[in-house]
Amino acid sequence: MKKPLIAGNWKMHKTLAEAKAWVDRVKASLAAGKHAGPSPSLAVFPPATMLYAMVGAVKDAGLNIAIGAQNVHYEPSGAYTGEISAAMIRDVGCSMVLVGHSERRHVFHEPDGWMGRKVTAALDAGLSPIYCVGETLGQREEGRTHAVLEAQLSSGLSARMEVDRVAVAYEPVWAIGTGVNATAEQAREAHGFIRSWLGRTFGKAKAAEALILYGGSVKPGNAGELLSQPDVDGLLVGGASLEAESFIAIAASSV
Ligand code: PGA
Repeated sequence: MKKPLIAGNWKMHKTLAEAKAWVDRVKASLAAGKHAGPSPSLAVFPPATMLYAMVGAVKDAGLNIAIGAQNVHYEPSGAYTGEISAAMIRDVGCSMVLVGHSERRHVFHEPDGWMGRKVTAALDAGLSPIYCVGETLGQREEGRTHAVLEAQLSSGLSARMEVDRVAVAYEPVWAIGTGVNATAEQAREAHGFIRSWLGRTFGKAKAAEALILYGGSVKPGNAGELLSQPDVDGLLVGGASLEAESFIAIAASSV
């Protein structure tokens, strides 16, 4: 049985004091038993300014929560003002990183061509990337969802990769931050397509092991239904991860 992964993406939110208070509240929620049964794996992706402190804060609290960065540059170092490298992320104790989040692709216009380099840089530095893919509403309405997912998967993941260290997150752009989540049927269909692409690229056994997360307007009220779909192995949660209690309620729906 694969352990589900429940990951929180904080985007550009929280001060360090608020982040530490979140850790305390997660600890209290877990101690209060709101998270009974076999646990999912938990991860959180805070802003880069607080990665180092968050690694220490979860450790001090005795919590098993992986900390990751929200983005990474593909070069190891150099004149790239404002960027951080995979080795730097690893150096402060992180174990994970998001690559290709839809806001990076659509708000900051990161091209498909960078994605494979970013995933490779993350793996080379010892990080586990979550590679995000997803279609816009227009692309879905034009019937191009599969073509878009396939192009994003093939630009980000290559057959030479250790796919067991990469998770894929299906995040339809129209569902992110909109309050409109994909239906269980839409998630099942897209995740099935991603699993079959992974099977063609990496072989069936590795594809079966790969984690495919759903993201886009996940809340405590819809997490259980989404997670119960075949091929949905976890969740990438934005807004609802900011409150410790709702993050833990979402994690509890995986057990
Ligand atoms: P949301 O964001 O849960 O706020 O829709 C998801 C994400 O961007 O990963």
